[in-house]
Amino acid sequence: MNEPAGEVEAFAPEHLDGCARLYAATFSENPWNEGWTPETARERLLQVIGAPGFHGLVVVRDEEVVGLAFGYRRRRPEGDFFLLDEMCVSSTLGRIGLGHMLLTRLRRNLASQGVGRVVLLTGRNGPARAFYEKNGFRENFDWVLMVADETARPA
Ligand SMILES: CC(C)(COP(=O)(O)OP(=O)(O)OC[C@H]1O[C@@H](n2cnc3c(N)ncnc32)[C@H](O)[C@@H]1OP(=O)(O)O)[C@@H](O)C(=O)NCCC(=O)NCCS
Repeated sequence: MNEPAGEVEAFAPEHLDGCARLYAATFSENPWNEGWTPETARERLLQVIGAPGFHGLVVVRDEEVVGLAFGYRRRRPEGDFFLLDEMCVSSTLGRIGLGHMLLTRLRRNLASQGVGRVVLLTGRNGPARAFYEKNGFRENFDWVLMVADETARPA
Protein backbone atom coordinates (compact mmCIF):
# COMPACT_ATOMS: atom_id res chain seq x y z
CA MET A 1 0.00 0.00 0.00
CA ASN A 2 1.29 3.49 -0.79
CA GLU A 3 1.66 5.58 2.35
CA PRO A 4 -1.22 8.09 2.54
CA ALA A 5 -0.33 11.75 3.15
CA GLY A 6 0.52 12.34 6.79
CA GLU A 7 3.71 12.01 8.78
CA VAL A 8 4.21 9.33 11.42
CA GLU A 9 6.09 10.83 14.35
CA ALA A 10 7.12 9.63 17.78
CA PHE A 11 4.72 11.03 20.39
CA ALA A 12 6.05 14.23 21.98
CA PRO A 13 4.41 16.35 24.71
CA GLU A 14 3.42 19.01 22.16
CA HIS A 15 1.08 16.40 20.59
CA LEU A 16 -0.87 15.82 23.81
CA ASP A 17 -3.70 18.32 23.30
CA GLY A 18 -4.20 17.24 19.68
CA CYS A 19 -4.24 13.58 20.77
CA ALA A 20 -6.84 14.37 23.45
CA ARG A 21 -9.06 16.15 20.92
CA LEU A 22 -8.79 13.24 18.48
CA TYR A 23 -9.40 10.64 21.18
CA ALA A 24 -12.43 12.45 22.65
CA ALA A 25 -14.00 12.94 19.23
CA THR A 26 -13.35 9.37 18.05
CA PHE A 27 -14.58 7.53 21.11
CA SER A 28 -17.59 9.82 21.56
CA GLU A 29 -18.83 8.81 18.06
CA ASN A 30 -20.46 5.58 16.88
CA PRO A 31 -19.92 2.75 17.62
CA TRP A 32 -18.23 3.68 20.93
CA ASN A 33 -20.40 6.60 22.15
CA GLU A 34 -18.36 6.79 25.35
CA GLY A 35 -18.88 10.46 26.19
CA TRP A 36 -15.28 11.66 26.46
CA THR A 37 -14.29 15.30 26.73
CA PRO A 38 -10.84 16.56 25.70
CA GLU A 39 -10.08 16.88 29.44
CA THR A 40 -11.00 13.29 30.38
CA ALA A 41 -9.29 12.04 27.23
CA ARG A 42 -6.14 13.92 28.23
CA GLU A 43 -6.21 12.26 31.66
CA ARG A 44 -6.68 8.83 30.05
CA LEU A 45 -3.80 9.35 27.62
CA LEU A 46 -1.53 10.62 30.39
CA GLN A 47 -2.07 7.28 32.16
CA VAL A 48 -0.70 5.42 29.15
CA ILE A 49 2.07 7.91 28.45
CA GLY A 50 3.22 7.66 32.07
CA ALA A 51 3.46 3.87 32.07
CA PRO A 52 6.95 2.34 32.18
CA GLY A 53 7.98 1.14 28.73
CA PHE A 54 5.64 3.58 26.95
CA HIS A 55 5.98 3.87 23.19
CA GLY A 56 3.63 6.04 21.18
CA LEU A 57 3.28 7.18 17.58
CA VAL A 58 1.08 9.85 16.05
CA VAL A 59 0.11 10.76 12.50
CA VAL A 60 0.25 14.50 11.85
CA ARG A 61 -1.46 16.00 8.85
CA ASP A 62 -1.77 19.75 8.24
CA GLU A 63 -0.35 20.28 11.75
CA GLU A 64 -3.23 18.33 13.32
CA VAL A 65 -2.95 14.95 15.04
CA VAL A 66 -5.16 12.59 13.00
CA GLY A 67 -4.01 9.24 14.33
CA LEU A 68 -2.39 7.72 17.38
CA ALA A 69 -1.13 4.35 18.60
CA PHE A 70 -0.07 4.19 22.25
CA GLY A 71 1.04 1.34 24.44
CA TYR A 72 3.84 -0.02 26.55
CA ARG A 73 6.24 -2.91 26.85
CA ARG A 74 5.34 -5.57 29.38
CA ARG A 75 8.09 -7.71 30.84
CA ARG A 76 7.94 -11.50 30.43
CA PRO A 77 10.66 -14.02 31.27
CA GLU A 78 10.85 -15.08 27.63
CA GLY A 79 11.07 -11.45 26.43
CA ASP A 80 8.89 -8.35 26.47
CA PHE A 81 5.64 -8.06 24.57
CA PHE A 82 3.85 -4.82 23.71
CA LEU A 83 0.37 -3.99 24.96
CA LEU A 84 -1.25 -1.72 22.39
CA ASP A 85 -3.56 0.17 24.73
CA GLU A 86 -5.03 2.94 22.60
CA MET A 87 -5.35 3.39 18.86
CA CYS A 88 -7.50 5.64 16.73
CA VAL A 89 -7.63 7.48 13.43
CA SER A 90 -9.79 10.49 12.64
CA SER A 91 -13.14 9.32 11.27
CA THR A 92 -12.90 11.92 8.50
CA LEU A 93 -9.75 10.16 7.26
CA GLY A 94 -10.82 6.56 7.83
CA ARG A 95 -10.02 3.67 5.49
CA ILE A 96 -7.30 5.41 3.53
CA GLY A 97 -4.51 3.44 5.15
CA LEU A 98 -3.49 5.67 8.06
CA GLY A 99 -4.19 2.93 10.64
CA HIS A 100 -2.16 0.43 8.64
CA MET A 101 0.66 2.94 8.32
CA LEU A 102 0.70 3.48 12.11
CA LEU A 103 0.66 -0.23 12.93
CA THR A 104 3.36 -1.01 10.38
CA ARG A 105 5.67 1.66 11.79
CA LEU A 106 4.92 0.61 15.36
CA ARG A 107 5.73 -3.04 14.66
CA ARG A 108 8.90 -2.08 12.83
CA ASN A 109 10.06 0.04 15.78
CA LEU A 110 9.26 -2.74 18.23
CA ALA A 111 10.96 -5.39 16.10
CA SER A 112 14.12 -3.27 16.09
CA GLN A 113 13.98 -3.43 19.92
CA GLY A 114 13.52 -7.21 19.81
CA VAL A 115 9.80 -7.06 20.64
CA GLY A 116 7.84 -9.18 18.18
CA ARG A 117 4.56 -9.76 20.01
CA VAL A 118 1.79 -7.16 20.19
CA VAL A 119 -1.34 -7.78 22.28
CA LEU A 120 -4.57 -5.76 22.34
CA LEU A 121 -8.20 -5.81 23.40
CA THR A 122 -11.00 -4.73 21.12
CA GLY A 123 -14.77 -5.17 20.91
CA ARG A 124 -15.68 -8.71 19.89
CA ASN A 125 -18.24 -7.46 17.36
CA GLY A 126 -16.80 -4.01 16.70
CA PRO A 127 -15.56 -2.76 13.30
CA ALA A 128 -11.98 -2.39 14.56
CA ARG A 129 -11.74 -6.18 14.78
CA ALA A 130 -11.73 -6.45 10.97
CA PHE A 131 -9.00 -3.84 10.83
CA TYR A 132 -6.76 -5.75 13.25
CA GLU A 133 -7.43 -9.06 11.50
CA LYS A 134 -6.46 -7.46 8.20
CA ASN A 135 -3.20 -6.46 9.89
CA GLY A 136 -2.36 -9.99 11.00
CA PHE A 137 -3.89 -10.14 14.51
CA ARG A 138 -5.80 -13.28 15.53
CA GLU A 139 -8.06 -14.04 18.47
CA ASN A 140 -6.20 -15.82 21.28
CA PHE A 141 -8.28 -18.53 22.92
CA ASP A 142 -5.87 -19.14 25.82
CA TRP A 143 -6.95 -15.94 27.54
CA VAL A 144 -10.28 -14.63 28.72
CA LEU A 145 -11.19 -11.08 29.77
CA MET A 146 -12.71 -11.25 33.27
CA VAL A 147 -14.40 -8.43 35.18
CA ALA A 148 -15.48 -8.00 38.81
CA ASP A 149 -17.76 -5.01 39.22
CA GLU A 150 -19.20 -4.11 42.64
CA THR A 151 -21.63 -1.68 41.05
CA ALA A 152 -23.16 -4.46 38.92
CA ARG A 153 -23.73 -6.90 41.85
CA PRO A 154 -27.42 -7.78 42.37
CA ALA A 155 -28.92 -6.57 45.70
C1 LIG B 1 -9.90 0.97 13.60
C2 LIG B 1 -9.17 2.15 12.97
C3 LIG B 1 -7.93 2.50 13.80
C4 LIG B 1 -8.75 1.75 11.55
O1 LIG B 1 -8.00 2.83 10.98
P1 LIG B 1 -8.09 3.16 9.42
O2 LIG B 1 -7.06 4.19 9.13
O3 LIG B 1 -9.49 3.49 9.06
O4 LIG B 1 -7.70 1.76 8.79
P2 LIG B 1 -6.95 1.48 7.38
O5 LIG B 1 -7.43 2.48 6.38
O6 LIG B 1 -5.49 1.34 7.59
O7 LIG B 1 -7.48 0.03 7.07
C5 LIG B 1 -8.73 -0.14 6.48
C6 LIG B 1 -9.11 -1.62 6.57
O8 LIG B 1 -9.39 -1.98 7.93
C7 LIG B 1 -10.67 -2.58 7.98
N1 LIG B 1 -11.61 -1.60 8.53
C8 LIG B 1 -11.33 -0.37 9.01
N2 LIG B 1 -12.44 0.22 9.46
C9 LIG B 1 -13.43 -0.64 9.25
C10 LIG B 1 -14.82 -0.59 9.51
N3 LIG B 1 -15.41 0.47 10.07
N4 LIG B 1 -15.56 -1.65 9.16
C11 LIG B 1 -14.99 -2.73 8.59
N5 LIG B 1 -13.66 -2.83 8.32
C12 LIG B 1 -12.89 -1.79 8.66
C13 LIG B 1 -11.01 -2.96 6.54
O9 LIG B 1 -10.40 -4.20 6.24
C14 LIG B 1 -10.36 -1.84 5.77
O10 LIG B 1 -9.99 -2.19 4.48
P3 LIG B 1 -10.96 -1.78 3.27
O11 LIG B 1 -11.31 -0.34 3.46
O12 LIG B 1 -10.12 -2.07 2.07
O13 LIG B 1 -12.15 -2.68 3.41
C15 LIG B 1 -10.10 3.39 12.84
O14 LIG B 1 -11.24 3.02 12.10
C16 LIG B 1 -10.55 3.95 14.17
O15 LIG B 1 -9.85 4.75 14.76
N6 LIG B 1 -11.74 3.56 14.63
C17 LIG B 1 -12.33 4.13 15.85
C18 LIG B 1 -11.50 3.86 17.07
C19 LIG B 1 -11.26 2.39 17.30
O16 LIG B 1 -12.14 1.56 17.11
N7 LIG B 1 -10.05 2.10 17.73
C20 LIG B 1 -9.67 0.76 18.09
C21 LIG B 1 -10.10 0.51 19.49
S1 LIG B 1 -9.48 -1.04 20.08
